[in-house]
Amino acid sequence: MNVSNDFLNVRWEQSFVERADRTSLYGHRSLVVWFTGLSGSGKSTLAYGVERRLHQLGVKTFVLDGDNLRHGLCSDLGFSEMDRRENIRRVGEIAKLFLDSGTVVLAALISPFRSDRERVRMLFEPADFLEIHCDCNLDICESRDTKGLYRKARAGLISQFTGISSPYEDPISPEIHVDTGISSPSDCVDEIVVYVR
Ligand code: ADX
Repeated sequence: MNVSNDFLNVRWEQSFVERADRTSLYGHRSLVVWFTGLSGSGKSTLAYGVERRLHQLGVKTFVLDGDNLRHGLCSDLGFSEMDRRENIRRVGEIAKLFLDSGTVVLAALISPFRSDRERVRMLFEPADFLEIHCDCNLDICESRDTKGLYRKARAGLISQFTGISSPYEDPISPEIHVDTGISSPSDCVDEIVVYVR
């Protein structure tokens, strides 16, 4: 199979309804907000919290949650470096479609590797993409252990677990840095909503 030749036979179909049309229909622009951080750092809590607040303000939103996507679209992927790269690539492409649909996308994935996150960022215009580092130190995430996964990882029942047996690379200059080990979820949501608005 020659993928690059196959690609030559596929063309891009153009919609008559463009992003700008959706922006005026919905009364707001679309945006991708990408939450990254360790398991248990609060990414999903904040993404759903921000979604709730924006929804109440009449904004069209959707959360792309790493755990949920791994039940369907990404259920063929594991947690090797290569699979995570593919996971992030797919979700980046989905986020791009949602952006075109006029939606404020809240993507919550560990996305532990800087290069994968940078690749996603490159899919978007700078004004369309915000990276949020949900920064919570490993000890706190591990002591919370909301899903019981750290315990399993320490017991050797889960391999390549982020923070334990697989690395997490901190973002260098995220648009927003929230200290989810110290600040309350509602304070973090407030800060993000203010920034997004
Ligand atoms: S990512 O690294 O590819 O971005 P993603 O956010 O999709 O990960 O999925 C992470 C979720 O999968 C975690 O919240 C956790 O519930 C679960 N999980 C299962 N195994 C692992 C593992 N080895 N490392 C990290 N998370 C894991």
